[in-house]
Amino acid sequence: MTRLDLTGRTAIVTGGSRGIGLAAAKAIAAAGGNVILTSRSQESADAAAAEVGGTTLGIVAHAVDEQGARRCMDLALEWFGSIDILVNNAGTNPAYGPVIDQDHARFAKTFDVNLWAPVLWTGLATRAWMGEHGGAVVNMASIGGLGFEPDLGIYNASKAALIHLTKQLALELSPRVRVNSLAPGVVRTKLAEQLWKQYEGQLNSSTALGRIGEPGDIGSAVAFLVSDAASWVTGETFVIDGGQRLGDAALFRAEALADA
Ligand SMILES: NC(=O)c1ccc[n+]([C@@H]2O[C@H](COP(=O)([O-])OP(=O)(O)OC[C@H]3O[C@@H](n4cnc5c(N)ncnc54)[C@H](OP(=O)(O)O)[C@@H]3O)[C@@H](O)[C@H]2O)c1
Repeated sequence: MTRLDLTGRTAIVTGGSRGIGLAAAKAIAAAGGNVILTSRSQESADAAAAEVGGTTLGIVAHAVDEQGARRCMDLALEWFGSIDILVNNAGTNPAYGPVIDQDHARFAKTFDVNLWAPVLWTGLATRAWMGEHGGAVVNMASIGGLGFEPDLGIYNASKAALIHLTKQLALELSPRVRVNSLAPGVVRTKLAEQLWKQYEGQLNSSTALGRIGEPGDIGSAVAFLVSDAASWVTGETFVIDGGQRLGDAALFRAEALADA
């Protein structure tokens, strides 16, 4: 068995119908894992499960619906016999714009889906299986949770809090459950369209690795973090952003220096 082999492990991936969650489900399935992925629509969940293939089930569950979350736990145990991996991926950003322009409804929705849902699902998975048998949780944070950007204040605060709670949970659930977060940069998905669609050329030239992220870049990182290859990693925030956080690479490249 290679250490990236997930044969016999069962994963629940929230928000698995498209984008990063779908890519994470594919990466886990490609490593041999069973997958339960969720969406707010059964039709989208079924379509995504068919696209992932292998032993994958699509289940309708809103990220903050406790009954839906419990149903996923029950089905994982009934169909596959364990819940070894939880990817808290579902995320939202209805609060785009300056912080003081937001209202309570947009603030509450952002924090419910981005922060409460990971707490809810992690608690249920721990009580249902991981607390006794062990497991690995990955919370989908963002590089926004490590810094400041215009118009993303509420969203980024939710991701900063998620990074904080990841560390708290890594301590509280130790030593059996590993809890880590991923902090992607700008990735080509629907949620982030406002961040890349008009600016892709600009982002490509300013990013050290010369392009924006693709969902599969993050899927691979999820598969690593939940595998035995990361068996001594917990409480960490794994930045995966092609170097976006380093600054404007165009200013540092040899041709830019030659022109100066
Ligand atoms: N793309 C980026 O640049 C980027 C960067 C950093 C972090 N992230 C994070 O990555 C995660 C995935 O985002 P993405 O970019 O892949 O977005 P996406 O392509 O828009 O996909 C979002 C997924 O979450 C599901 N979802 C949304 N709200 C939900 C809710 N309330 N309950 C259950 N599922 C819900 C959607 O499913 P349905 O619509 O089918 O229900 C969909 O599967 C999010 O946590 C996001 O904050 C993204």
